[in-house]
Amino acid sequence: MKENFDFLMPSVNFFGKGVIKKIGDRAKMLNMSKPLIVTDKFLRGMDNGPVAQTLASLDEAGVSYAIYDGVEPNPKIRNIKEAKQVYLDNGCDSIITIGGGSSHDAGKGTGILLTNGDDITALAGIETLENPLPPLMAVNTTAGTASELTRHCVITNEETKLKFVVVSWRNVPLVSFNDPMLELDVPKGLTAATGMDTFVQAIEPYVSTNRNELTDGQCIQAIRLVEDSLREVVANGHNVEARTKMVEAEMLGGMAFNNADLGYVHAMAHQLGGQYDAPHGVCCAMLLPIVEKYNIQACPERFAELAEIMGENTDGLSTRDAADLAIKAMRQMCDDVNIPRSIKSIGAKPEDFELMAENALKDGNAFSNPRKGTKEEIVALFQEAYDAE
Ligand SMILES: [Fe+2]
Repeated sequence: MKENFDFLMPSVNFFGKGVIKKIGDRAKMLNMSKPLIVTDKFLRGMDNGPVAQTLASLDEAGVSYAIYDGVEPNPKIRNIKEAKQVYLDNGCDSIITIGGGSSHDAGKGTGILLTNGDDITALAGIETLENPLPPLMAVNTTAGTASELTRHCVITNEETKLKFVVVSWRNVPLVSFNDPMLELDVPKGLTAATGMDTFVQAIEPYVSTNRNELTDGQCIQAIRLVEDSLREVVANGHNVEARTKMVEAEMLGGMAFNNADLGYVHAMAHQLGGQYDAPHGVCCAMLLPIVEKYNIQACPERFAELAEIMGENTDGLSTRDAADLAIKAMRQMCDDVNIPRSIKSIGAKPEDFELMAENALKDGNAFSNPRKGTKEEIVALFQEAYDAE
């Protein structure tokens, strides 16, 4: 538990049905004269989708813009270099990201290149940025990584296949938009994967060494909301109430981990994501029950509490037995939303585990994990995730 902390989140966070209509006015209030829109081709091509609705609001407010729509999943260094060029070629002065974590991270990475130098790999780590990014607003379309709220920018070096994180208060967007109506048509698989990311992002800060009472409250409510609504949004994506609850869960978890940090699930998931170009939420979900079972011995009472928060009946159980129920609940959630159990499903190979374990321990998310692991232990966790059936 941390007693002294600086609590970070965007200064303004628009939430609810239809809030996307406010983005044009907000861009004007921020004196954005020509934002670069950072997004992907799928969202740009959607009829009346998130990009179309954002552009309509900017048009109405008389704000011009340029567009970069080349963001790939697990955004690569080539994406942010291209986006930087579009920004410079068009005389842009600000950035608006539209999408899930990939768009937001690509937008932050573009901003980093523009004001902190061309070698972003040298800036991996915590609080490495010397200069402010251009003004940045984030329109979120998945629940989700919560990158629209956070100081984390995760980029993949396509040459080394290393996924690295630049963690800095300078990455926090000025304004976030979370409009659940933009999420209704997110496909089932993506809803499940991103929803599991939200689940993990509420669990890891709850057992983090950097947690505090504020973040505990956010984690508890986020976990309850996920338990309440994730299965439903996967089954019925057009349930607006359940989508809204998942957006609330995502924002709460994002606020929590932005300040209490994450742990080995994310540190290891980044290695799988970078090495095999696999979806972040799926990587996190497959590792969750295995890593948290390993973590129990560092704080069994916290895991016993998690079991209760997840709705398990812990009456009369020892702390250790109650803690095991939390792992069972995590496994159940993964199964219910059809996440594969083994990392074989994304093409993982045991010969890569040693290097991935080494890099996981250096990842910016590793330091707050409640149990301190050795490289051999991390290799064993990857192996367990490989052997899982
Ligand atoms: Fe995540």
